[in-house]
Amino acid sequence: MANQTLHILALAGSLRTDSYNRKALQFAKRVASEFDVTISEADLKTLALPVFNEDLRADGFPEQVVKLKQEIESADILLIATPEYNHSIPGPLKNAIDWASDKTNPFSGKVAAIFGASTGIFGTLRSQLQLRQVLASLNVELLPQPQVYIRSAEEAFLPDGSPADPKIGKQLRVLIDGTIKLAKLKKEKR
Ligand SMILES: Cc1cc2nc3c(=O)[nH]c(=O)nc-3n(C[C@H](O)[C@H](O)[C@H](O)COP(=O)(O)O)c2cc1C
Repeated sequence: MANQTLHILALAGSLRTDSYNRKALQFAKRVASEFDVTISEADLKTLALPVFNEDLRADGFPEQVVKLKQEIESADILLIATPEYNHSIPGPLKNAIDWASDKTNPFSGKVAAIFGASTGIFGTLRSQLQLRQVLASLNVELLPQPQVYIRSAEEAFLPDGSPADPKIGKQLRVLIDGTIKLAKLKKEKR
């Protein structure tokens, strides 16, 4: 079997400029870049998707939605950093997933690695559980472990963007390594 370079699409569920999840995503991208992969990022702030409304696709999907669908389609692995709002998936991330999965499902058969940072003590535990459920409904495969919860996010990053707790860095490395291995196996079986 020829060596196949996998493509990762990275996505943070926050639009905030100083977002801890954008920070966590940049670190995860750095880790992922040590493997034989290519990486691109879908920036929800730049994409500026409208609020999901089926009526808006009566004359065709908005162009940002077409772009997002294509980006997901061309990826083997999704790397998603999710915040948690009110014990749940943040609206912008769920909005993007709903748009991207409307009518056609470019997520199907992909592998994802999810993690998240929040200022609370559970570090996005609840939003990640819900995100797992949403991704499962779209036929996306995730490793059961490790699950990476970055709590007390305001203290969780060093000035260079790496996690202050070395355990978090290690967990992200194990997660990304395992996810790439899983995606490779899936691709070989196709
Ligand atoms: C409306 C709202 C609801 C929030 N709910 C939660 C929550 O349920 N759990 C939690 O840990 N943090 C919660 N937070 C705090 C977020 O974790 C914090 O704002 C975090 O910095 C958001 O992620 P970001 O830095 O990537 O933008 C909430 C924040 C907002 C604005």
